[in-house]
Amino acid sequence: MTELNFKRHRRLRQSATMRAMVKETYLHKEDFIYPIFVIDGENIKNPVDSMPGVYQFSLDRLSEEMDEVVSLGIPSVILFGLPAEKDEVGTQAFHDHGIVQEATRFIKKNYPDVVVIADTCLCEFTSHGHCGVVSEDHKILNDPSLDILAKTAVSQAQAGADIIAPSNMMDGFVAAIRKGLDEAGFEDVPIMSYAVKYASAYYGPFRDAADGAPKFGDRKTYQMDPSNRNEAMREATSDVEEGADFLIVKPALSYLDIVRDVRNNYDLPVVAYNVSGEYAMVKAAAINGWVNEKQIVLETLTGMKRAGADLIITYHAKDAVRWMEEK
Ligand code: PBG
Ligand code: ZN
Repeated sequence: MTELNFKRHRRLRQSATMRAMVKETYLHKEDFIYPIFVIDGENIKNPVDSMPGVYQFSLDRLSEEMDEVVSLGIPSVILFGLPAEKDEVGTQAFHDHGIVQEATRFIKKNYPDVVVIADTCLCEFTSHGHCGVVSEDHKILNDPSLDILAKTAVSQAQAGADIIAPSNMMDGFVAAIRKGLDEAGFEDVPIMSYAVKYASAYYGPFRDAADGAPKFGDRKTYQMDPSNRNEAMREATSDVEEGADFLIVKPALSYLDIVRDVRNNYDLPVVAYNVSGEYAMVKAAAINGWVNEKQIVLETLTGMKRAGADLIITYHAKDAVRWMEEK
């Protein structure tokens, strides 16, 4: 008989204990950031149809969600706001008593250990639904948007936000926000920049949840083309130079190569945003009984960490922590 020469990889897979010894990637509840939608009004807990398990909460019912988050040991939430009124420039985004500012105050008062991240954008607050200021001929204006974004960040910090997370994709937004925060005395408030954000169909369900769909056109003049990988490095480099403290890659699942690139090229914490459309697909399949939800979710989140993410913003966070503790 001719001798075969080959490697026996299966030696290390023989038993559960052996597999646990060689396991390379772990999920921890400290990895997760849970998104919460806060809506102006009273006694509201509105289900988001395209995101089963996700709700819009008014402030008076926010503790239902926060109690759960805290009892599960999830350290951080990111807030998105649905204001009572919208206008051309998104005044409610930077209003002292805007919905995100009030929700931040509520959480910091009642759950002081939770790290509150404020999403800093205008699309939920503008009548046109774009992330910046719009001209009469429907152009999204970069520089006039920066002042408003900086004002928004400062008002969020004043309300007690621990981290500012700008998602608007205007050029220079990190520089403008850093300057605004520093001048207002918030030099210790970090910026978690949506550094690499693609113009993605995976945001569809979010736009229902946050009522932030653009009323005309699309976001392709400010968000990135999904075809581009080198451009992701340019976007991340400029944010690092402007003073970002964390780098978000968004979406996550179709962009794990980018997560790895960012991990390999920068020494800042990398955050993968497991976005609404990714969540909706898993939920739809799970509800139909086509996939095992627990296994699919834990595998997906593990893949994001293996790709290089230090943190994951995910709507699955509460379920994931429960499942991780079952094992
Ligand atoms: C707003 C914003 C969006 C998301 C986070 N912040 C939508 C968009 O840019 O259109 C998407 C989040 C998700 O899909 O879960 N700038
Ligand atoms: Zn926006």
